[in-house]
Amino acid sequence: MKFKQRIYLFLSLLVWAYSQILVAGEVEVLHWWTSGGEARSLDVLKQKMVEQGHSWKDFAVVGGSGDKAMAVLKSRALSGFPPTATQIKGKHIQEWGKLGLLTNLDKIAAEQNWIEILHDFVNDTMKYDGHYVAVPVNIHRANWLWVNPELFKQAGVSIPTTLKEFWLAADKLKKVGIIPIAHGDQAWQNSTVFEMLLLGMTSVEFYKKAFVELDKESLSSEKIIDVFVAFRKLKNYMDENIADRDWNTATSMVINGKAAMQIMGDWAKGEFIAEEKQLGKDFLCIPMPSTSKTFSYVIDSFIMFEISDTDNKKAQASLVKNILDKQFQKTFNMNKGSIPVRKDIDVDTFDLCAKASRSTLVADSYANVLPSFSYGMATSIYTQDAIFDIVTDFFRNEKITPKQAAEKLTRAIEDSF
Ligand code: BGC
Repeated sequence: MKFKQRIYLFLSLLVWAYSQILVAGEVEVLHWWTSGGEARSLDVLKQKMVEQGHSWKDFAVVGGSGDKAMAVLKSRALSGFPPTATQIKGKHIQEWGKLGLLTNLDKIAAEQNWIEILHDFVNDTMKYDGHYVAVPVNIHRANWLWVNPELFKQAGVSIPTTLKEFWLAADKLKKVGIIPIAHGDQAWQNSTVFEMLLLGMTSVEFYKKAFVELDKESLSSEKIIDVFVAFRKLKNYMDENIADRDWNTATSMVINGKAAMQIMGDWAKGEFIAEEKQLGKDFLCIPMPSTSKTFSYVIDSFIMFEISDTDNKKAQASLVKNILDKQFQKTFNMNKGSIPVRKDIDVDTFDLCAKASRSTLVADSYANVLPSFSYGMATSIYTQDAIFDIVTDFFRNEKITPKQAAEKLTRAIEDSF
C-alpha cells in the first residue's frame, strides 16, 4: 500500500472512531429481570445496544414482579436523578405520566408506525394524556398452569383442563406424596393465584364488571366469596415452606420434580428454557383449568425519563427503537416466554405455548382479552395494592372468613379511588 493510501486509511479510521464516540451514549436501565430466563432475555437487548456503540449501565433490583424495583425507582426519581429508562407497566405508567418527567415518544411511535403494528389495547396502555410515554416489549399471558408430566404419570393422573379435574388431580397427587402446587407466599403471587381461580370460576363478563368497572354489586356477590373459599382450599395442596419463596424457586420445584404444578404467567417458561428443558417432554403449558379461552394479559414496557445529555438522548432513542425491532422481538420473546407485541410478526417459528397464546389473544376479535389486576393492568396502583393486602391477609390468617374477606375487598377497593 502506498504511503498516501495508508494516510488516507488511517484518517478514515480516525473519523469513524470519532463518529462512534460521538453517537455513543449511555443508558442506565432499571429493571427486575434477574431470574435465569429473564436475565437471558434482557441480555439480547444489552448486546444490541453495545453493538451500536452505546454503553449499558445495569440497574437491576431483585424481586419478582417488580415491587422492590418500584420502591427504588421512587426514591431515585424523587431525588432528581432518575435512570434513563425503567421497566414499568400498565396503570403505573399513568402515575409517572402525571409527574411530567417522561420523554415524549410520539415521534418514534410515528416513525415506527406503532398505531398500525401494535394491538389497540397495547397502544392505549402506552399513552398518557394522548401521548406515547412508554414502549412495549412483549405480551405475557398470566393464566397458565405449568406441569411436570412425569409426576402426573407417577400418580396415574390425567392433565386437568377444568377446575373440577384440577381439584381431583391435586387430591390424587397429594395422596401419593407429591406436592401438587409450587407456590411462594408473596403478595403478588397470592394475588395471581386468587385471580386465576376467579377467572376459572366466573366469566369474562363478570371479571370486567368486578375488576375493570369495579362494580360494587359484583364485588360483593357470592361469587367472590366462593373464590375465597377455593383460594383457602388451594393452600392445602402447597408445601409448608411457601413463606416468601420467590416465583422462580417455585418454578424450579416443577423443573426438578419436587412439585407437580405451578399457577404462573408464561415468564415461567423462560425458566424451563434456560434450564434446557423440553416442552412436551419435561414440562407442559396448560391454560389455567376452565380458562382456556381467556387471555389474561400482562404487557411489559419501559418508560424513558427526560434527560439533557445529547449523546445519552440518542442512546435513549436507540433503546426505544431497538425494543420494537422485528428480529429483537423474536429472539427476546422466545427466551422470555411471552409473545411479540407487534401484530405483524408471525409466531410460526415459536413453540406451542406461544402459538396458543397468540390465537387465544386474537380469537373472536379480542373478546376474551382481560387486563390482569395482579399486574397493574386493570386498576390504579392504589386499588391493586388494596387487593394485594386483602388477599394476602386472608391467605395468611385462617381466622378471616371468606365472607369477611369479600366484604373487606369491596370496602378496600371503594376506598382506593
Ligand atoms: C413481569 C414479567 C416478569 C415477572 C416475574 C411480571 O410482572 O411482567 O416480565 O418476568 O413479573 O418477575
